[in-house]
Amino acid sequence: MQLSPEQAAFNQSQAQARSDAVAAAIRDATPEAGALTALDYGCGSGPIGLRLANHFQHVTLADVYPDVVAGAIEAARDASNVDVRLLDLSTKDGVPEDLCVDVVLSCLSWHHVRDLDVLLEALPLVAPGGRLFVADMDFDGGAYHADLPDFDGVQGFDRDDLRQRLERHGYGDVRVSDLWRSQKWITGKLTDLSLFMMQARIPPGAAGTD
Ligand SMILES: C[S@@+](CC[C@H](N)C(=O)[O-])C[C@H]1O[C@@H](n2cnc3c(N)ncnc32)[C@H](O)[C@@H]1O
Repeated sequence: MQLSPEQAAFNQSQAQARSDAVAAAIRDATPEAGALTALDYGCGSGPIGLRLANHFQHVTLADVYPDVVAGAIEAARDASNVDVRLLDLSTKDGVPEDLCVDVVLSCLSWHHVRDLDVLLEALPLVAPGGRLFVADMDFDGGAYHADLPDFDGVQGFDRDDLRQRLERHGYGDVRVSDLWRSQKWITGKLTDLSLFMMQARIPPGAAGTD
């Protein structure tokens, strides 16, 4: 069902307010960030990473789709401390040797990842001992993706399940908190969106291997 111009404008303003809230939460949690580098994984057009470009020393925007990366390159054209790359850490051979950051952040991209265990094993190679911030959806039974019949991700997360999954992979200090509640017009219906922020310490990499 086509959105009316008013519904589309409402959705856009909510998305901007959401990105503001996510970026503010990460900013507040990283007061020392002037010396840190960050990876925005699943960046889309870069709304979160670009909001944080003045906060971190350097930001890498990364996404799995070339057309999305092209959009992020365009959005980042005036940001001198931002680079953009095609990257899929959810496949077994997805970790490039030249990528090493202090902080990994992701907003609304983890529910698209088909094999989260692969991603959780990849992050210590990219950010050994670093900090992780994940803003994503609480489980919603499919309401948020009702207009996407081909969607093959998960319908949000159970917070406790996700926390335990990280801990099983050696992540420390895992904390989950309420982040953002809003609504979005989807297939003619005003649909609730509830986001959490999960913070964790990424394991220190493959210690002991040469
Ligand atoms: C809802 S958008 C969120 C974009 C942006 N982070 C934001 O806050 O607006 C989901 C993003 O996840 C990306 N994505 C899909 N599969 C992914 C995967 N396996 N790993 C990382 N990102 C993925 C999509 O290309 C898309 O850019």
